[in-house]
Amino acid sequence: MTSNTTEIEAIVEGLSGPQKEISPKYFYDERGSRLFDDITELPEYYLTNTELGIMRDNIAEVVDLVGKQASLIEFGSGSSLKTRILLEHLSELAAYVPVDISEEHLHASAQKIRDRFPHVDVLPVVADFTQAFALPKPMVMPVRNVVYFPGSTIGNFEYDAAMELLRVMHHEAGDGGALLIGVDLQKDTRVIEDAYNDSAGVTAEFNLNVLQHLNRDYAADFDVDEYTHSANYDEDKGRVVITLVSQADQTFRVGNTEFSIASGETILTEYSHKYTLEGFSAMAEATGFTVEKVWTDAKQLFSVQFLSRT
Ligand code: TRP
Repeated sequence: MTSNTTEIEAIVEGLSGPQKEISPKYFYDERGSRLFDDITELPEYYLTNTELGIMRDNIAEVVDLVGKQASLIEFGSGSSLKTRILLEHLSELAAYVPVDISEEHLHASAQKIRDRFPHVDVLPVVADFTQAFALPKPMVMPVRNVVYFPGSTIGNFEYDAAMELLRVMHHEAGDGGALLIGVDLQKDTRVIEDAYNDSAGVTAEFNLNVLQHLNRDYAADFDVDEYTHSANYDEDKGRVVITLVSQADQTFRVGNTEFSIASGETILTEYSHKYTLEGFSAMAEATGFTVEKVWTDAKQLFSVQFLSRT
């Protein structure tokens, strides 16, 4: 990625408030994407394995609810194992529509899906899925649209933005449409905090990589060794607060703007909201969905939910 003045301005703005913040989208440069893949394989990061297990254990029911000749519209990257499980079992799909903002990544993973599932009409869409976008016309007219949003990525949006995203998904699902979504659940603080503070330090590397990314591509000069990773679960708000903590009184620059940061001051890089089943159901209802089915694991760590348009 090349540096870009408007993007630098947006980064500067995020760092100019009382709580400095860097958008989580800067996690995912090439190294960051690799580190995130490593995170999903950590023993402490229960989310991915638990969701995969739930999908495997209930795939017959999932396939039944999706129904025949549906168009599966995936919000976010389409290269994951979870999608492959679905595609393996949805033998009569009208189309698979992966939607992602990163064009290069999207086309590479779309091609992999075509190679693996030659019978599926794969129609990638380059779009920012937080806003309504036009759907492609499949060769076969779909009976219904089913939006797929795995990984509890919904949890990375604050309440208003999560509601807005549910509304976009409701819109893209259209008449008779549905949403299949992964939703992480509130649980013991220790279990949650361990998932974001792994003993191998991969999550710390992933979080700190944001600074390297800004240094390389966005004219920043962070002294990466002078920051540490922090992730704390706020039980009242039901969210993990992920930050970078400055280890000294220091300055840094982004573009032509110089910033001061005090020792102990934080830069917010992401929230990860955890839900109760009741809380998520209320959000679904308020955006025009009805929760039809909730699958969980034996320990109720994670949920996969099937929502239909009310
Ligand atoms: N969507 C992931 C989550 O909320 C992203 C994530 C996992 C993450 N580990 C992280 C983000 C560590 C920042 C730091 O679980």
